Amino acid sequence: MFTVSQRLASIDVTLLQFIGAIMGATPEPFDLVLFGGTGDLAMRKLLPALYRRHCAGQLPPDGRIIATGRSEMTTPAFLSRVEEHFAETLSDEEFNSPDREDFTQRLSYQQVDASDVIGFDALGTALAGREQVTRVFYLAVAPQHFVTICQQLHAHDLVSANARVVLEKPLGHDLASAQRISEQIGEIFDEDAIYRIDHYLGKETVQNLIALRFGNMLFEPLWRREWVRDVQISVSEQVGVEGRAGFYDRTGALRDMVQNHLLQLLCIIAMEPPASIEANAVRDEKLKVLRALLPLSGQEALRNTVRGQYRAGAIEGAPVVGYQEEDGIERQSRTETFVAIRAELENWRWAGVPFYLRTGKRLQERSAEIIVNFRDVPHSIFDRTYSTGHPNRLVIKLQPDEGVRLHMLAKSPGDRMQLRPVSLDLDFAEAFQQRPADAYERLLMDVLRGRLTLFMRRDELYAAWRWIEPILEAWQESGEPPKPYTAGTWGPAASSALLGRENANWHEEA
Ligand code: BG6
Repeated sequence: MFTVSQRLASIDVTLLQFIGAIMGATPEPFDLVLFGGTGDLAMRKLLPALYRRHCAGQLPPDGRIIATGRSEMTTPAFLSRVEEHFAETLSDEEFNSPDREDFTQRLSYQQVDASDVIGFDALGTALAGREQVTRVFYLAVAPQHFVTICQQLHAHDLVSANARVVLEKPLGHDLASAQRISEQIGEIFDEDAIYRIDHYLGKETVQNLIALRFGNMLFEPLWRREWVRDVQISVSEQVGVEGRAGFYDRTGALRDMVQNHLLQLLCIIAMEPPASIEANAVRDEKLKVLRALLPLSGQEALRNTVRGQYRAGAIEGAPVVGYQEEDGIERQSRTETFVAIRAELENWRWAGVPFYLRTGKRLQERSAEIIVNFRDVPHSIFDRTYSTGHPNRLVIKLQPDEGVRLHMLAKSPGDRMQLRPVSLDLDFAEAFQQRPADAYERLLMDVLRGRLTLFMRRDELYAAWRWIEPILEAWQESGEPPKPYTAGTWGPAASSALLGRENANWHEEA
């Protein structure tokens, strides 16, 4: 039997653990080696993310960041590049913070060229004597360098017992290349030391979706085929290829966005409640979703997918060129910049429910959202005008604003029984009055703390490729070019028709 004070003490400990888990404990001392340290990702996302966590007091005093790049450069020269980028990326308040000086003390630069095997000895010298601290190798470089870098790290005896490697996407071009990369890296790093980053999983609303589904009783009974009519996952971008023409033209929207980001969102939406938030418990459930995806190949793939490519048009009034006119893109390129898919899951919870996935560049708006459309009432007792359509939809908005909105019908004031759609809004910015952490802030801290829950496991990666590959093959075999769409629209008309078949529409409300 517990006494009251024992009970209180145990509650305190649980509460502290809970708060610790939410706030995140300060990680152990670390050395973070950033390959691609002068690249776009490092400058625009990774270093600002680390700086913000530094300002929040979450980095231990003994935490060093060693940026590496192929160019020969001194640390002061590197620091002035960082400063230039920070001036562009950070708010004035962040940029002028006295913490910036402190942060730069953590940074140094080291020339390392994986292809010519230059600089690994010097890197070894920089890391020497610190085998006990967490050692992170973050590979923000093109994937063709992943294996060579890992092999060189191993050959130079730099993979200490506490070492982790972070891999940026794309992880392969198809299943075979993903397997090749994973197997070769797997010879050097244990699976638990490999962090495959998908920055969509670090987005605040995605984690909120986990909280919404598994922290509340409300939705769970409704979260199934009996109550859900369809689910839409839509990520639309206004940007074009953004100076990454070579990469994008070889990749296309299916590989660039669907294989990873959209399928990961689908997993979070569709998975069964995991037994805990522990990494493998969550990843096991996500894997089951990927394995339950109804395979799409041949004619079925063509019938259930739409590929598009943008032509010249305008984004918010400003003219933009078509994809084939972009610098560095093949004039006759058949790479898709838009894709829409009708997917289905073969399991008890979701059989028959369409999961519509859509993503594209140069679309009308920048927006990422997940829509759960609930079924209509079986019989309406109200005036027909108000009872058609699908009154209940849950809109989970990832960007540009973050929030959750539940649409329903309510009576409008007055003496008549008139129903009108209204929504219950949860605007995170308003509710928490706190800047939501950028995806990379969260994920980098998870790497430093050794938490794998939000990172993809090897079998998930393979399962995603297994589903994607037959679609790519079907497109290839059909010989059809992608359907053109005007920049600044919502993609090819066939994308609306894909849903129109089932009397559904894309949710396109601002
Ligand atoms: C990246 C893709 O993974 O995600 C880019 O390679 C895309 O093509 C980007 O623009 C979108 O990320 P976000 O966070 O801006 O939606």
